[in-house]
Amino acid sequence: MTKSSMLTGFYRLSPKERIKLVKEFADLTDEETSLLQSTGSLPMVTADRMIENVIGAFQVPLGIAVNFLINKKNYLIPMAIEEPSVVAAASYAAKMARDSGGFFTSSTDPVMIGQIQAVGIKDPYAARMRVLGAKEEILKKANDQDPLLVSLGGGAKDLDAKVIHATTGPMVITELYVDCRDAMGPNAVNTMAEAIAPLVEQITAGHVYLRIISNLATKRLVRAWCTVPKETVGGEEVVNGIIQAYAFAAADPYRAATHNKGILNGIIGVVIATCNDHRAVEAGAHAYAAHCGGYRPLSIWEKNANGDLMGSIELPMAVGIIGGAVRTHPIAKIALKILNVKTATELGEVLAAVGLAQNLGALRALANEGIQKGHMRLHARNIAFAAGATSDIVDMIADKLVKERKIRMDRAKELIDEYGRAGKS
Ligand code: MEV
Repeated sequence: MTKSSMLTGFYRLSPKERIKLVKEFADLTDEETSLLQSTGSLPMVTADRMIENVIGAFQVPLGIAVNFLINKKNYLIPMAIEEPSVVAAASYAAKMARDSGGFFTSSTDPVMIGQIQAVGIKDPYAARMRVLGAKEEILKKANDQDPLLVSLGGGAKDLDAKVIHATTGPMVITELYVDCRDAMGPNAVNTMAEAIAPLVEQITAGHVYLRIISNLATKRLVRAWCTVPKETVGGEEVVNGIIQAYAFAAADPYRAATHNKGILNGIIGVVIATCNDHRAVEAGAHAYAAHCGGYRPLSIWEKNANGDLMGSIELPMAVGIIGGAVRTHPIAKIALKILNVKTATELGEVLAAVGLAQNLGALRALANEGIQKGHMRLHARNIAFAAGATSDIVDMIADKLVKERKIRMDRAKELIDEYGRAGKS
């Protein structure tokens, strides 16, 4: 009999009851269901409050990237990531940058954009003028929604309006600029956007559909830069190789996507460790990479007059240190304590520096010996573990796999068997 996924009222059940249903549906073993129930540092009751239909919690390794000096302040960087070599590469790059003072940063105010879409307007250009003319009234209505944010120096600060020509006809898009201070911002921005919608309908004589934050956060930018002496980076040839790697990314979107993926390896690790919304950060980063036309690398590498390597990066960074999951998840709270950042803007700037470091680590390896050497050692350990190697033999099995250049599960199992037989005889 086929089992149905139509589970009415599933959301009303306790996690334990849900696990029981999932167990029946997916033929889970007792061991698998008890693993689901052991949620580690995120208690099941907390997880159950965070999202819907919870049956467990998912853990990834949490590592610390070391050596970071940003604006002359020392930072330890917690990163939640499943990929080997990322934490090591960031730490190594941060050490290289330290030789000339580390990373320096700047940023805009933490302003997010809320969009209100009005359609069916007879005179869209005149309607745009009316929206701009009603700015004070609209901002007041928006700020009435969040007196706390306003009292902290944030709130709706400005607005703009544009006419776009969509497949369905012209639309007037009102854009509200909200300073979110230490919050990531969607709750504040979406509440304001929804609250001003009736006013926008009245002013434009149109019909409002969408009222939502934009993840292309061009008003919430962070920047970081560093200089790495050519001797530190490995000599003139390596500097040239890194600049060639950048030029490749600047000229080819296929390479730029991977270049930016490397940057996000570092950034997203920290974003997840602090329980921020990594989809928002990634969407913003990629959209920003493409917002001047073609898809471009988020960082730039060039040589200074001395032949040293100069790197810089600029991207939107919608992260917070208050509200939402950031303050609910026990590990995220500890990650923020380790980071010791005082504002969301400081966190954003740290993230820019981490992204630049990650990019430097990747490009230095790619322009030099390649990335596989370092990757393979860790990969071999993972394979050895997955094949059943116990911790006393895992390194030995991994070394053999690397030496034989056969980093495969079947070979790992053979080696474990051979070791077992040798041990018994
Ligand atoms: C791998 O996760 C990231 C890299 O591919 C980034 C890059 O190529 O610049 C190494």
